[in-house]
Parts: sequence; C-alpha cells; structure tokens
Amino acid sequence: MKPLLQVDKLRAGYGAVEVLHGVGLRVEAGEAVAVLGPNGAGKSTLLRTLSGLARAAAGEILLDGAPIQALPAHRIVGAGLVQVPEARHIFPYLTVLENLRVGATPVRDPAHKEQTLERVFTLFPMLRDKAKSPARTLSGGQQQMLAIGRALMGRPRLLMLDEPSLGLAPRVVEEVYEALRQLRSASGLTILLVEQDVYQALDFADRAYVLQNGEFALSGSSAELRNNDTIRAAYLGM
Ligand SMILES: Nc1ncnc2c1ncn2[C@@H]1O[C@H](COP(=O)(O)OP(=O)(O)OP(=O)(O)O)[C@@H](O)[C@H]1O
Ligand SMILES: [Mg+2]
Repeated sequence: MKPLLQVDKLRAGYGAVEVLHGVGLRVEAGEAVAVLGPNGAGKSTLLRTLSGLARAAAGEILLDGAPIQALPAHRIVGAGLVQVPEARHIFPYLTVLENLRVGATPVRDPAHKEQTLERVFTLFPMLRDKAKSPARTLSGGQQQMLAIGRALMGRPRLLMLDEPSLGLAPRVVEEVYEALRQLRSASGLTILLVEQDVYQALDFADRAYVLQNGEFALSGSSAELRNNDTIRAAYLGM
C-alpha cells in the first residue's frame, strides 16, 4: 500500500542557504510520527516545505502517491495536508468561533462545515463554552487547542503540528497531548509532529525521526528510540 505521505531526497531552505540536505520520510495512514531535533535543525523548515510555505529546491513530496511540491499552499491544504503552526498563530481579536471558521475555508459544503464544527466542539468542549470569547482571552493551553481545532476544521487527512508543547506549563502540555490522543482514538487521524519535548513526543508517537543539521541522523519506533543510548544521553537526560 502507498504511504499517505512520502518524502524523498528533499532539499529546501531560504534563498541561497540550504537547510534540509536531502531528507526522506514516510507516514502511513493512521500513524503518528514525530520529528525530533535540536534548535535550528530544520524541523519547522521541513513542515513549512511540506505545507508549501517554503519551496522544495529538489526532491519529491507525495501525498497518497500524488506529487504536491509544486502546488500553492492553499491547494495543499485542500488536498488534506493541514498544519498547526509553531506558536499557534491564532487571530487574537477574532472570537473562538470566528477563528474556527477561518480554518474551514477549504471546505465548500456548508452542511459539512457545521458537521465538522460539531465534531471539534465534541472533542474540545471548552471551545464551545468560549465560542463567543475573543481568542486572546484564552490561556496558552486553550489557544493551542483552538489552533488544533482550527486545523481540524479544514478536514485534514494528515495533521501536522509544530511544537504543540512550546511555551506551555508541563500540566498543560499533558492536556494538549491527552487531547491529541483522544483525537487519534476517536478519528484515527494521521499525525506528523515536530517536537523538542522528546519525552512527550516518544510517548505519543508510533515512530520518530531525529533531524540533525538538516539530515535525519536516526529513525525508529518510539520504543527503540527511548532505549537508544544517544537519544537517552542527548535528549532524555539519562
Ligand atoms: N525565514 C528564514 N530565513 C532565513 N533563514 C531561516 C528562516 N527560518 C529559519 N531559518 C534558518 O534555518 C535553519 C533551520 O530553522 P528551523 O526554524 O527550521 O529550525 P527548527 O528545527 O524548527 O528550530 P526550533 O527548534 O528553534 O524551532 C536555522 O539555521 C534558521 O536560522
Ligand atoms: Mg521550529
């Protein structure tokens, strides 16, 4: 069977500066896959390139077997690859509901939109309670849930998250990951996430890749990586 996402020999960067030096990655339908790595390794660049916000200089990005690397970003969202950006980027002066509606832009059928909104509210009841509140009045954790909810409004086939734990207190990080677990068990959604919180990421994901200086240094099942000496020393402080 074709993987849902297949990336081969991907090179990308900013202007003349290459950040990704030929990375390859696969995500099967239903999997949760994590990309780990230190500051500046190129994790966000990888997600941005997959989303079409940064351009691939070489290589191939296949979604369900079809090349997407030449598509404009909105078409990539339309094809089902939706990203929750780093630092969330919600619209602070719009209400929670208005933020969610922005996420539904790729969905045409109004009935479909309402159905999806209902699903998001069921998953995150807090968003229903706060539907009319300006997004800026939400706590950091609630804003992260909103950012995830907004991405879900686009009906992703593959949800990509850039450091969902960033800037959140440990208890709130737990809540966000609990919500992601619920989302997976409720819908079987395929997830690709980038994370510096290696402990959380390996706890959540089925498999992971370790990005170092724009190349994958290591990959394996989360269980394998948790027991890997390099990972334990470099990331888990053991
Ligand atoms: N818009 C940009 N223009 C030029 N260089 C950039 C830009 N964004 C990132 N870079 C550079 O690309 C490299 C990779 O950055 P990237 O943000 O992808 O790393 P990251 O792994 O996401 O790091 P972090 O963990 O800090 O989020 C870094 O050297 C960074 O300085
Ligand atoms: Mg980043």
